[in-house]
Amino acid sequence: MSPSQTDNKATPGAGPIEVPQGLYRKHPSEPHITGISHYRSLYSESIQHPDFFWSRFARQLLDWDKEFRTARSGSLANGDTAWFLEGRLNASYNCVDRHAINTPSKPAIIYVEDADGQTRVITYSELLRSVCKLSYVLRDMGVAKGHTVSIYMPMVPEALIAMLACARIGAVHSVVFAGFSAEALQGRILDAGCKLIITSDEARRAGKPISMKTVVDQALKFCPGVTGCLVFKRTGLTPTSWISPRDRWWHEEVEKWPGYMPPEDLPAEHPLFLLYTSGSTGKPKGLVHTTAGYLLGAAASTKYVFDLHEQDVFFCAGDIGWITGHTYLCYGPLLLGSTTIVCEGTPTFPSPFRYWNIIEKHQVTHFYTAPTVLRLLKKAGSEPSPNQVSKLRVLGSIGEPIAPEVWLWYYESVGKKEAHIVDTYFQTETGCHALAPLAGVTSTKPGCASVPFFGVDPVIIDPISGTEIVSCNQEGYLAFRQPWPSMARSVWGDHTRFIKTYFNQYKGYYLTGDGAYRDSEGDYWICGRIDDVINVSGHRLSTAELEAALLEHPAVSEAAVVGVSDEMTGQALSCFVSIKDGHKDDSTLNKTAISYIRKAIGGFATPKYFIVVSDIPKTRSGKIMRRILRKIFEGEKENFGDVSTLINPASIQTVIEEVETFR
Ligand code: PRX
Repeated sequence: MSPSQTDNKATPGAGPIEVPQGLYRKHPSEPHITGISHYRSLYSESIQHPDFFWSRFARQLLDWDKEFRTARSGSLANGDTAWFLEGRLNASYNCVDRHAINTPSKPAIIYVEDADGQTRVITYSELLRSVCKLSYVLRDMGVAKGHTVSIYMPMVPEALIAMLACARIGAVHSVVFAGFSAEALQGRILDAGCKLIITSDEARRAGKPISMKTVVDQALKFCPGVTGCLVFKRTGLTPTSWISPRDRWWHEEVEKWPGYMPPEDLPAEHPLFLLYTSGSTGKPKGLVHTTAGYLLGAAASTKYVFDLHEQDVFFCAGDIGWITGHTYLCYGPLLLGSTTIVCEGTPTFPSPFRYWNIIEKHQVTHFYTAPTVLRLLKKAGSEPSPNQVSKLRVLGSIGEPIAPEVWLWYYESVGKKEAHIVDTYFQTETGCHALAPLAGVTSTKPGCASVPFFGVDPVIIDPISGTEIVSCNQEGYLAFRQPWPSMARSVWGDHTRFIKTYFNQYKGYYLTGDGAYRDSEGDYWICGRIDDVINVSGHRLSTAELEAALLEHPAVSEAAVVGVSDEMTGQALSCFVSIKDGHKDDSTLNKTAISYIRKAIGGFATPKYFIVVSDIPKTRSGKIMRRILRKIFEGEKENFGDVSTLINPASIQTVIEEVETFR
């Protein structure tokens, strides 16, 4: 059953680490993919005969109301691929009903409250009832097929129920991460044209209540299209502001409706959700994912990358507000009929051992988190006992590069060399994993995203010539030359931007925005963003958006934000600002300017460094040279590459001096 056993002694640079034998010992049966040659034959079929391959998978993994005839239409070159035309299905039926019929009393969701308060188990039959009742409420509040619904919720099962209820009636959900400010929420509601928002009175984080409804009230001040606000009572601690008849309580509304509503059968390409993400320009993009293709990618990658089986318990510690939460907390595990953990709160409260206690208590088999969390727990000296992780087979990493020493800590101290580490690479745009090791199958290397998932045909593009780099160990731009079902179909309301951003620069390819190289064994290594996107603790932030917020401040004349490396958060934000004549750099400027970012985006985008400079290096065409600022911050004094296009070359020396004074 298992590939050949080797000594699992993990040393950076010592070569691949084989699948730990403990994984097979703990396995309920055997991995879905039986070995590397099985993966290779499926992978090559997915590339050579994608239509045939995905049609078979679509029939195996999804239930259809009406069969599709055409597997795929359109092309990458035109950015217009569509899958499983003529087919009809419903996402909530696939995630809930079919399991409620077969395994009604099986836990679908295990909810662990903040600060390890209560645990609530929701079975598949209970989930079906809750989703149906809420579906009636949505309809009663005027939501119909094709309408967009904003979901601004803490990490509670009701967030998933809200998503599934939208899907049941064919409404398009747009989940906005609960850390976003009122202004950011408002921008997303307006862009999506939402009719309704679903929120809660408060959230709980590390034992403290955090207001949600007041943020929503503020956001809705300028959203005339929103006619309803459904409020889930999470704490009931603080009196909630109320605007009638717009606002309604979730618990009062669901009481009024029966426990079953038939699902809408929807076309395969019906939009399932929008998810906003940052790009290199200021305005966030609402990426559109469609029903069948997205569900298929979620089901297939959860099944084969994580080797998830029906009896498994999946603990994705990511937030529902990001793509990881959509695909691997909600849709993936539920599509496969397994159990998903919804964990509210932070990894370190009430103690840094919280996650290990949850893993032990709920017999978790799969744990998935971001390197930023691992760095935090490692620093806190938090390690599980072998007993606590005795059921763990797979440990996933996502969202940012994982340093080899953190990878090894994950493998040795958390997994006890008995769980397979899968460092998965994907994006909001790809919907599901694009590059990843396969649990129970592929050997792994610390920090390496390994092999392409089915249907993903990666290439490394030479940025200068635009041709494919065939040699190994040479860095270039990561692109994909074949469409796959779960890729986003558009940017909401701006298809031209979708085409321009992803398909126009190198015709015939989808451009990821990441640098990467392929090693001599054909494994892929991600080198970080090639555009003006900064990754702080796995949160994707746009320099343009951050700078636009700083420029709102009356004293700021120019602003540049760069990502600098940081031990805890991977990257940290460093702001360089120059101030307008007549304004002073007094002790409050730093705080007030940063408050503009918090107001425009949210607290999670708070910069770490704020440096006032007299001039910012820029080109004759006015383009800020962030590359130079980053190098100066890192201590570079001479080697700045080509500076011939600078309009103000003397600024380099002054910034060097100003950064030294800042330190
Ligand atoms: O830069 C890559 C980084 O996160 C970006 C995608 O961000 P987002 O759409 O917010 O989705 C995050 C969760 C999938 C990518 O373009 N990234 C994601 N996974 C990895 C990664 N960088 C290195 N290694 C990874 N495993």
